[in-house]
Amino acid sequence: MNSEFVYINEVGPRDGLQNQKTILDSEARLELINYLIDAKLPGIEVASFVNPKAVPAMEGAREIIKGLVHTKGCEISVLVPNMKGFEMAHEAGAEIITVVPSATETMNQKNINMGLEETIESSCNIIKSAKSSNLKTRAYVSVAWECPYEGKVEGSTVLNIANQLLSAGADEIILADTIGAANPASVGSLFKKCVEEFDHNILSGHFHDTRAMALANVCAALAEGIRKFDSCIGGLGGCPFAPGAAGNLATEDLANMLNQMGYETDVDLQKLSEIVGYCSDQLKAPLGGRMSAWLSKEK
Ligand code: COA
Ligand code: ZN
Repeated sequence: MNSEFVYINEVGPRDGLQNQKTILDSEARLELINYLIDAKLPGIEVASFVNPKAVPAMEGAREIIKGLVHTKGCEISVLVPNMKGFEMAHEAGAEIITVVPSATETMNQKNINMGLEETIESSCNIIKSAKSSNLKTRAYVSVAWECPYEGKVEGSTVLNIANQLLSAGADEIILADTIGAANPASVGSLFKKCVEEFDHNILSGHFHDTRAMALANVCAALAEGIRKFDSCIGGLGGCPFAPGAAGNLATEDLANMLNQMGYETDVDLQKLSEIVGYCSDQLKAPLGGRMSAWLSKEK
């Protein structure tokens, strides 16, 4: 057993809600975010500053940032796809900016209408602008293992992109298995390469549970020293532009596994379980995580 801290970054209000049939307005999303803050999640990605014509569910990002008053030490981040999104986020008062380059040409084209080189250049420029305003920056490398359009991604490509983002000043690199195609062996080997080059403290994992391997992938990353993971309450999730991107790893399942393994997370599991029920009611759909049903019986 060990008592090391593992940081869970909740991405439900963004990744989880961007592709649901039922759209929650910014007021409902704010209520959800406040519940998540109360459940003591150390970080939450609360919104994305994207074109609402492209992603209607993310309309109202500005209202969310403006409406968050008592964040109780929770680190609030937002996703931005381009410089315009960054400018809007900055103006709204966002303090942690997340850029979202993908590792392949086609995925960037489909997602943000830029080629790979242009995306990296734009992401680096956003990071530099954010740093010059003393904002914290996180940088995804999406489809880090496999792209729905171009297939398997080379580890060297991911490392090359990560190096460029870090040189621009990114505080954190998140390797994202956007379509849930990674497995514990491929996760272990890519993170092993990363920790040989970068400090493990600046690395994070983002796993979708499409093929039921997300928790196993977390274990493989933990074994390489990774101590930060994204997840979504209730296993919500999916990217509108990446066919096959099903739900994310469920936050309650992740927190429970980490706690049982002896890691500290700070997260209130009982509250998470209540939030799963709340989301399920709001979205009028059952949610994917396993732990909430079990926790409700425990009461
Ligand atoms: N937020 C809101 N509106 C934006 C924007 C942003 N970040 N960036 C551009 N726009 C608007 C422009 O003002 C313009 O509006 P208009 O039609 O009223 O004149 C329109 O979008 C087109 O601008 P352009 O610069 O040509 O953008 P684009 O068509 O190349 O679209 C994105 C680029 C990134 C804005 C768009 O593809 C998008 O929002 N994608 C969503 C990506 C996403 O959320 N993926 C899932 C998470 S990874
Ligand atoms: Zn995702």
